[in-house]
Amino acid sequence: MAIIAPSLLAADFLHLQDAVRMVNESEAERLHLDVMDGRFVPNISFGLPVIEQVTKESIKTCEVHLMIWEPEKYAEAFKNAGADILIVHLEACVHLHRNIEQIKSLGMRAGVAINPHTPVSALSEILQDIDLVCMMSVNPGFGGQVFIPNTIHKITALRKMITERGLKVNIEIDGGVTLDNAKSILDAGADVLVAGNTVFRASDPKKVISELKRIT
Ligand code: DX5
Ligand code: ZN
Repeated sequence: MAIIAPSLLAADFLHLQDAVRMVNESEAERLHLDVMDGRFVPNISFGLPVIEQVTKESIKTCEVHLMIWEPEKYAEAFKNAGADILIVHLEACVHLHRNIEQIKSLGMRAGVAINPHTPVSALSEILQDIDLVCMMSVNPGFGGQVFIPNTIHKITALRKMITERGLKVNIEIDGGVTLDNAKSILDAGADVLVAGNTVFRASDPKKVISELKRIT
């Protein structure tokens, strides 16, 4: 069964506590928290003070997706704010290996996100060092965008690379995941689904999480 990670970006920010409690009561395993700096991506979301409160309320694994330049400057602060998994963008890291080692030495699991134009082959020399690849299926910066179909063949290629090397790395798909396209995403080899609008804009978010989880 897929691991579901609802993205809080699509929640009602006036009622974040309700959103976190809904995820707590749901079958989702993780809570996905999108941090944007207005430079690496053309948008600004929320930051450390919000995440500190959210992680206190959450009983799920909290993964923080950093869409920021120089993530190494903030890794320790996100650990202190309660992050369990820290995801940095390959395109934002000149010294990616060093950044991954830093994240792991702080006691977090490490993830690498790649933009839609970044080939899977760019992960070749870092794959053995990480716990998760966050494959962007939209251009990062905004929720509610349409899934880019070219992602499917990238998932297949990455799953092949992971299997051939005998690694245990999650393939997480982030952006435009719906009840309609989740099956093709999972069939291609992904095992974690991020879902923002699909979950939080639904009339019954917990039911949608259960449905996503049961797609086979
Ligand atoms: C986009 C973020 C995503 C976003 C997904 O930059 O990384 O996590 O919240 O939202 P949906 O599922 O609505 O496309
Ligand atoms: Zn994200």
